[in-house]
Amino acid sequence: MDLSEKTCLITGAGTGLARAMALGLAEAGASVLAADIDTAGLAETEAKAKGVAGRVIAHQLDVRDQGQGEAAVAHAIATFGHLDMLVNCAGLGPVYMKRNFIEEPLRFWDADPERWWNMIAVNLRGPFLLARAAAPHMIERKWGRIVNITTSFSTMIRGGNMPYGQTKSGLEAGSASWADDLRDSGVTVNVVIPGGAADTGMIPLESMPDRSKLVAPQAMVGPIRYLASDQSNGVTGKRFVAQFFDPQHPLDAPGCAPVAWPDLASGASKGLGEGTR
Ligand SMILES: NC(=O)c1ccc[n+]([C@@H]2O[C@H](COP(=O)([O-])OP(=O)(O)OC[C@H]3O[C@@H](n4cnc5c(N)ncnc54)[C@H](O)[C@@H]3O)[C@@H](O)[C@H]2O)c1
Repeated sequence: MDLSEKTCLITGAGTGLARAMALGLAEAGASVLAADIDTAGLAETEAKAKGVAGRVIAHQLDVRDQGQGEAAVAHAIATFGHLDMLVNCAGLGPVYMKRNFIEEPLRFWDADPERWWNMIAVNLRGPFLLARAAAPHMIERKWGRIVNITTSFSTMIRGGNMPYGQTKSGLEAGSASWADDLRDSGVTVNVVIPGGAADTGMIPLESMPDRSKLVAPQAMVGPIRYLASDQSNGVTGKRFVAQFFDPQHPLDAPGCAPVAWPDLASGASKGLGEGTR
C-alpha cells in the first residue's frame, strides 16, 4: 500500500501500539508527526524509523493541554502542508491507578479522585481537544480521518479498573457521535482496538510474564494503513478489531462492526466472543 501522499498526527507514539502504528504508516510512505509526553520514548520511535520510506517526526505533546494540542495540529499542517489523519492513541491504563491491578483489582471506593480526574483528562478530554482542533481543516479539505483507540466492551464494564473503562466507553460513544456530526463531509471517524490485552507497558510484565498470549502491537498496522488510504473512503462509524482484521475483506471480516453499541445482537450473531467486542 502506498501512503506517500498521506500525513498523520498520532498521539502516544513514544511506545506501544501508537509506535507500531506510526512506524507501520511511515513504512508505507506516510509522513507522521509522532506525539507523546515522553521525549525519551519519542527519540526511540524516531530512531526505529531510520531508513523507512516515509517520515516520522517526534513532537512533544501533553494531550491534556488545549494549547499544546492546537499547536501540534498546526505544526503537522505547517510541516506536511496538510493533515489527513489524527490517531488518538495516548492513554493511561488501569496500571496508572494501581500497579498490580490484575492480581488485586481496584475497587471504586479505593480509587484516588485526583488520579481518576487525570485519567479522564488524558483518555477522554485529550482526544476531544485534538479532534476539535483538526476537524475544521479536514472539513475544509473534504477529506480526513479521525481514529480513536478504545478497548473491548468487556473491559469497559468490568469491575476493578476505575475509571479506565469509563474513559473508553466515553470515547467509543464520542466516536459514534462525531461520525454522525461529520456525515457526508468526507471526514470519517472510526475506532480500532487490539481485541485483547496487548503486549505493551500497559500490561505489567510482572503480572503477565508469559507475553505469548497477548496481542502483538503490530496487529494494529493493517487497520490503520487501511484507514489512512483512499480504500476506506466513505467508511465511517466502524469499529475494527485489529487481531481479526482482514486486508482482503476489511468490512466483511468478523473484526469489523458498527462503532459503539447499536449492533450488539448482530455482533453476537457474527460469532464475536467475549473480549472481541
Ligand atoms: N495494551 C493494551 O492491552 C490495550 C488494549 C486496548 C486498548 N489499549 C489502548 O491503546 C492505547 C495505547 O496503549 P498502549 O498499550 O500502547 O499503552 P502504553 O502505556 O504502552 O503507551 C501509552 C502512551 O501514552 C503516552 N501518554 C500518557 N499520557 C500522555 C499525555 N498526557 N500526553 C501525551 N501522551 C501521553 C505515554 O507516554 C505512552 O507513550 C491506549 O489508549 C490504551 O488504552 C491498550
